[in-house]
Amino acid sequence: MSTSPQNNIYRSVIDLKSATSNEIYSLFESAMQLKNGFTGQKDIPQRGIAALLFFEPSTRTRFSFEAACARSGVYPLVLSGAAGTSLEKDETLEDTILNIEAMKPLFFVIRAPDALNMREMAEKIHTPIINAGWGMQGHPTQALLDMLTVYENFKTLEGKKVLFVGDIKHSRVVSSHLELSRTLGYQVGYSCPASFLPYSVDRDVMYFSQLKEGLQWADAVVALRVQKERHGGAKFSVEDYKAQFSINKATLEYLNTDSIIMHPGPINYGIELEKEVLQDPRSQILKLVENGAFVREALIRQVLQRIS
Ligand code: CP
Repeated sequence: MSTSPQNNIYRSVIDLKSATSNEIYSLFESAMQLKNGFTGQKDIPQRGIAALLFFEPSTRTRFSFEAACARSGVYPLVLSGAAGTSLEKDETLEDTILNIEAMKPLFFVIRAPDALNMREMAEKIHTPIINAGWGMQGHPTQALLDMLTVYENFKTLEGKKVLFVGDIKHSRVVSSHLELSRTLGYQVGYSCPASFLPYSVDRDVMYFSQLKEGLQWADAVVALRVQKERHGGAKFSVEDYKAQFSINKATLEYLNTDSIIMHPGPINYGIELEKEVLQDPRSQILKLVENGAFVREALIRQVLQRIS
């Protein structure tokens, strides 16, 4: 979100480390203006193409970036998984990106595993990259849409307490929140089994081994998906996890009435969260998805301004 025009890495959005508070609030303001003025499809001049490369599965992020492109006058060319592409013939992710760059997209939106060094890629090519979820490294637009939603509810972020419950160790969403919380001044807390804690926990992060205590502390609780695909076959007992950390009607008795419930999706019902939670008036789970489309549209418009 930095504004230096010379270097492609500065026009890209790989993480939130260098984003200033002013830049983020300006993005929130643009997203809210787009949301408040939204009337459905409109005729807008086409500006060119964008390449949306989803090397890993996605529903919310991919569709919201596609919608955001369409609403910004950019035609999205979408790669969704390896099937039908030359990745099936062992072409590398890097070569895929270099070849598609040769077709002159205005920008890339990339979801990729840790194996792709997205930061190095942004230094190497000339086209901006927006990180749409990178291995365990970060998911900046998810953190932005989460905090726009918290901001919409509380009208301030300073000192707000955001509790992450679940598989913190493998969460790129948490990585991006750690960056964003330093800039926006909100507090981060974790509640999870010790085996789901990252190898090092930031000094400023609160840890609650008891979910009840974390819920009593939180203004916003973010349930996280248990990412079994990143556990490398390590043993995991759903029953033990549920007994201690499930977000359900009973455990939500400990959450304040004016606090909010979030989950980035996709949800594993019956593991980290029960379906009944969607009916709780404090749930903002679908509001996050709605806000995501507007945050991403605002971000795309910012990137287009930077390259114009
Ligand atoms: N929250 C999120 O990134 O969802 P998708 O994997 O469906 O994009």
